[in-house]
Amino acid sequence: MRILPVSSGKGGVGKTTFALNFALALAKTHKTVLIDLDTGTSSLRNFLDIKVNKDLFHFLKKNCPLQECREILPAAMDPDRAFANFSFIASPQGFVHDIVNFSPAVKEKLIVGINGLQADYVVIDLKAGLDRNVLEFLPLSNSGIILFTPKLRAATHTAAEMAKAVLFRMLGIMLTSPLLQERFLQAASAPQALFFQRLRDFLESGSDSEAKNLDDFISEAAVQFPQDNFLRVLRYYVENYKVYYVLNQFNSMSESLENTIKPFVEEIFRIASAKVAFHNLGWVVEDEQVRRSTEAGVPYLVRRYYKKRQAAPLAHDFDAQLRDLFGVAQKKAPAERKKGLAHELSSQIDLLRKIYVCNAGKDPETNLDFIAARVRDISNNSVHQFGMKKIFSVQEFLERFQSRLV
Ligand SMILES: Nc1ncnc2c1ncn2[C@@H]1O[C@H](COP(=O)(O)OP(=O)(O)O)[C@@H](O)[C@H]1O
Ligand SMILES: [Mg+2]
Repeated sequence: MRILPVSSGKGGVGKTTFALNFALALAKTHKTVLIDLDTGTSSLRNFLDIKVNKDLFHFLKKNCPLQECREILPAAMDPDRAFANFSFIASPQGFVHDIVNFSPAVKEKLIVGINGLQADYVVIDLKAGLDRNVLEFLPLSNSGIILFTPKLRAATHTAAEMAKAVLFRMLGIMLTSPLLQERFLQAASAPQALFFQRLRDFLESGSDSEAKNLDDFISEAAVQFPQDNFLRVLRYYVENYKVYYVLNQFNSMSESLENTIKPFVEEIFRIASAKVAFHNLGWVVEDEQVRRSTEAGVPYLVRRYYKKRQAAPLAHDFDAQLRDLFGVAQKKAPAERKKGLAHELSSQIDLLRKIYVCNAGKDPETNLDFIAARVRDISNNSVHQFGMKKIFSVQEFLERFQSRLV
């Protein structure tokens, strides 16, 4: 099972629309469960004109197993059972305070429930925003799928903040390790203790009197205590941090690059680290049919299928093409060498071109099939560590981290 949270930082970028149709695209080949964790707005159930019998309320308050709180598309909506592999878990319609605000008990129960689902893919529609309720459902090693759009300038900025917040949270948890605290704060020399404090403050506040970003801290540590395992682990986490993103309401390659991807990469380089690696999973064009589907309560992909009245296109058409273009499924991806912004941007342009070859002038359905194929490809590739197999608790993460440290 792979868990794929979709986050955006900002609302109104098409997160729910994307999460829904992306889950349906994955369901063409794999058992896929979509979970609405945007509790409070319950927008997913407004997008689906379906009677919901059980939702998260039944799981959280009535002890109904999460697997049994799934709803499927009714026969009237999907008579061919073309999307039989798709199911969704709705959030409650009413305002249940501890569910909307994710009390610690609710959160813990949800994580256990999600980890126990029987599915190939679990897609999570998260709340917008950067608070703990969003961050704690994101993987600790990468940020799931970040969605943003050239249509909304401010969305690029919050998407970059989102990517940074996930990385900083992970490193912040790392610094709470008792092993590190002991070594740096009590036993170690004064410069090390000072470094540790500054790094901790930086992860919380985003600013430091000397260092601009994590790269500066890493360089400093390399001078001050080059032999320390902590430096090695810190560097490892930063260098292996990957950002996976999708552009919604994509308009044109040049505009998307200049107005969206470039500022996104630049900002993360500036505020976090130039060692971060980016992976564009694809885009979804702006399309009136997508908007109309939302209003009609029938998902775009389902409407599209029944409009065409033909067998669902085999999504793995893309798989072979992807292997040719990216060559990631078979062999290991080459070690990523970083040469700064110009290099990163040129590799993003390169990626855009490759995606364009598959997608040029196409409709949202082709776009979504492409993204689903790419996600299947990447989640099978161990180099990527994309799509966590379970949501780790802080404790589990710390244990893994400490084992690297010794
Ligand atoms: N690719 C697209 N083309 C056209 N309209 C879109 C597209 N993606 C989203 N929309 C529309 O944008 C609006 C906001 O989408 P929504 O999924 O609710 O955003 P969010 O969940 O981020 O708040 C909806 O009316 C939706 O139909
Ligand atoms: Mg939404």
